[in-house]
Amino acid sequence: MHLPRPTALKLLRAATAVSKRAHAPYSRFQVGAALLAHDGTIFTGCNVENASYGLTICAERNAIFHAVASGRRRFTAIAIVASGASMPYPCGACRQVLAEFGDAGLIVLMAPRATLARYESYTLGELLPHTFQF
Ligand code: THU
Repeated sequence: MHLPRPTALKLLRAATAVSKRAHAPYSRFQVGAALLAHDGTIFTGCNVENASYGLTICAERNAIFHAVASGRRRFTAIAIVASGASMPYPCGACRQVLAEFGDAGLIVLMAPRATLARYESYTLGELLPHTFQF
């Protein structure tokens, strides 16, 4: 499954905007995530680092927690954008947190901030097969 390209680019642009609000003084790596809820609302999040490094929260989890705190738990897609040149695939922890709220068909888009049009698209099932559940 893929999102229509205009919808994908809209989500990637929202992720780009929020990536610029990242608090990343340690890594200098800015990440933004934009989550599309079933009702059409977009929730965003950026990475927020801490001097105690392990307390850092990723952009994806920030966006998910923002959405859940706003009463949305069903999602169609998430877009992830980062300041580096490499493709910002979500970390394992964020994949597992996405699986808490999204089914295997959840669409995960990503692109470097400088080359949004060359985004990649996967399903959550492709990125995290055999998800932990009980
Ligand atoms: N980061 C994210 O925001 N999302 C990921 O999926 C992986 C890493 C952030 C955490 C940290 O602030 C910076 O990128 C470098 O690891």
